[in-house]
Amino acid sequence: MKKFENSVTFDGQNYLMQSKTLKSICEEVETPFYIYDVNYILKKYDMLKKCFPYENLKIFYAVKANYNPHILTFMRDHGFYLDTVSPAEVILAIKLGFDKERILFTANNMTDKEMRIIKEQGVLFNIDSLYRLEVFAKTYPGESVCLRINPEVIAGEDAKVQTSGELSKFGILLDDVKKAVEIANKYDVKIIGLHEHTGSGISDTGKIYESMENLLGAAEPELFPDLKFIDFGGGFKVPYEPDEKEIDYVEFGNRCVSMFEAFCKKFGRRLDMYFEPGKFIMADSACMIVRVNTVKNNKGRLIVGTDSGFPHLIRPVFYGAYHHIINISNPLGEVKKYDIYGNTCEAGDCFAEQREIGEIRVGDYLAIMNAGAYCRSMASEYNLRPLPTECYIYNNEFFLSRQKLTHSELAERILFDYGIK
Ligand SMILES: Cc1ncc(COP(=O)(O)O)c(C=O)c1O
Repeated sequence: MKKFENSVTFDGQNYLMQSKTLKSICEEVETPFYIYDVNYILKKYDMLKKCFPYENLKIFYAVKANYNPHILTFMRDHGFYLDTVSPAEVILAIKLGFDKERILFTANNMTDKEMRIIKEQGVLFNIDSLYRLEVFAKTYPGESVCLRINPEVIAGEDAKVQTSGELSKFGILLDDVKKAVEIANKYDVKIIGLHEHTGSGISDTGKIYESMENLLGAAEPELFPDLKFIDFGGGFKVPYEPDEKEIDYVEFGNRCVSMFEAFCKKFGRRLDMYFEPGKFIMADSACMIVRVNTVKNNKGRLIVGTDSGFPHLIRPVFYGAYHHIINISNPLGEVKKYDIYGNTCEAGDCFAEQREIGEIRVGDYLAIMNAGAYCRSMASEYNLRPLPTECYIYNNEFFLSRQKLTHSELAERILFDYGIK
């Protein structure tokens, strides 16, 4: 059986998160549940910071990856900045005690109402269209703003997470940068930041360098006299498959810094350098545990049914993403090929097809790895099943973060939401 390196380790008998065996946690917590390793999350942040040897570096965690408020609280105390995309994300962060100076708001297709809410919160806007810039500038002349530029480089692990290129709905095209400056100047709006986010799960670092060069090429000192920072977005890939090669982020970070240093020299001032990772911080810091309730042998094809499904971990169905699966109840069992299914009324509700896993029996617990990013935050109550419990381990201690509703509580909540007694 291959060992999978992330927040989960294997001691030859058991899978562990810190010093707790996952099996022992299953005795305490009803499945399905997500379990996060908080020390691992903080370690990833520290690692990333070290990769970029630049004094004015700021790491903005992309809250959309996972908004668990207990985890955000640890992040607050550890010095994280936040990348937010909706008014509720901003309000949540502020209620959790993040200073407004540590939050950037990057909404796509923002409404006037959202704009007013964010302005009241005093958070910096990252604006991604000429239209919204004009509305913002007219409404708030003299204010500061960051501009999201489309670096026109296609990158990311799936077409659905490629957020750049001339057909993209995100950002201001490079050709329109001068128009953006004219709008800002007309209303005395100061452009203090330039931003890009090329895509998610980028395996080709060459694409990241290319997008950085495009953005830096557009950042002419005469156009941006008030510039304080450049934000190069997120998209840092982590391995999802056991044999996947990890990107050398030390080499990558050093190259990014050299590129940025050279730019700052030409620009005439040392600017701040921002990044916005979501997946890199959260993905491999957690897993989701499900329980097997059915095993079928359909003419030799082994079909496994579990008590969760794509509403709780949508990435395989949505992006065709690979999530490694281990049988924590039978780690040394004979390896066989399985199709692992969820419990919704959708034929496509499949976590993995023809996957090699230690022999699976009814009642076994399976850990679906890399479930920290874009799993809970993209989860729904489709088929009316309660969202999973969330728990975490910090300094070898187990904590319950959010208990899932019972089926009756969920039904009651629906009636309440619709005003039916
Ligand atoms: C603007 C922006 N920044 C950062 C991120 C984080 O991306 P990732 O989780 O791949 O690092 C995203 C993801 O969609 C994004 O849209």
